Amino acid sequence: MDFFAKNIWITGASSGIGKAVAIEISKAKTNLILSGRNESKLKEVAAQCKKNGSTAQVILFDLGDEKSVVSAAEAVLSKKIKIDALYHFGGISQRSFVNETPLDIDRKIFEVNFFGTVALTKAVLSRMAENGGGQIAVTSSIVGKFGFPYRSAYAASKHALHGFFESLRAENKKNNIRVSVIIPGRIKTDISLNAIDKNGQPHSKMDEGQEKGKSAETTAKIICRKLKKEQKEILVGGTELLMVYIRRFIPSLYYYMSSRVKPL
Ligand SMILES: NC(=O)c1ccc[n+]([C@@H]2O[C@H](COP(=O)([O-])OP(=O)(O)OC[C@H]3O[C@@H](n4cnc5c(N)ncnc54)[C@H](OP(=O)(O)O)[C@@H]3O)[C@@H](O)[C@H]2O)c1
Repeated sequence: MDFFAKNIWITGASSGIGKAVAIEISKAKTNLILSGRNESKLKEVAAQCKKNGSTAQVILFDLGDEKSVVSAAEAVLSKKIKIDALYHFGGISQRSFVNETPLDIDRKIFEVNFFGTVALTKAVLSRMAENGGGQIAVTSSIVGKFGFPYRSAYAASKHALHGFFESLRAENKKNNIRVSVIIPGRIKTDISLNAIDKNGQPHSKMDEGQEKGKSAETTAKIICRKLKKEQKEILVGGTELLMVYIRRFIPSLYYYMSSRVKPL
């Protein structure tokens, strides 16, 4: 995937990893559609992308509101824009224990992380296939590979993305749809500040793990390099990525370690 002169739709582009990826890709003189809910932040990102020589338009939607996602997709597709790539970074995290979290909070996390992402993908997929194919990237997490305390619905929503997008990839090889699943470890963004608690309120704390994480800019460079290669799984982060291999190859050690994790 060469980014030059392509039409690339990026969700979660107002902040953190999605914003850094948008700015990194914009250096390749491409055409960006930047999405999220925060219009002023998205306009700032669009301005930076334009300075780098790309075009950038802002399309607002709330991933938790299917209608807003579908109507945004209809608006884009009605302009006969050929979407070459759709990169999903939009998402929210969680900070609450299973036994204190009402089901509506679990559903809210799934609506944003899973159903919103799936709704946009479904809206774009057929047109992408008709146009000869394209690239879709979805952002999971290392906790899309194993469970983690205080993140039950978040981890579950990320596991669900793996199942959905692996199936989509298998079904659409014939349509030249290439799928990448991005699996970040700890990246220094506002994710823990924006994570929701048992009441659906922002956690509003920069967690220690996040604070020490890889910068969004370095992360974006790594992701873009691997997106260009159309790598199917893109792991990015620090030593915490080891846990993916521990879970797979030494599960007993993972069970022990995960039960000892401090919740925050
Ligand atoms: N940072 C990490 O350590 C880490 C680790 C693993 C996975 N991830 C994943 O990486 C992705 C990006 O997260 P980040 O770290 O960059 O966090 P972030 O700085 O909080 O950015 C989250 C992005 O998601 C968008 N978003 C959240 N809720 C939305 C909604 N209801 N509708 C539309 N957009 C919404 C936000 O845009 P608006 O506020 O404008 O809506 C924002 O652009 C997420 O999927 C996250 O789960 C992050």
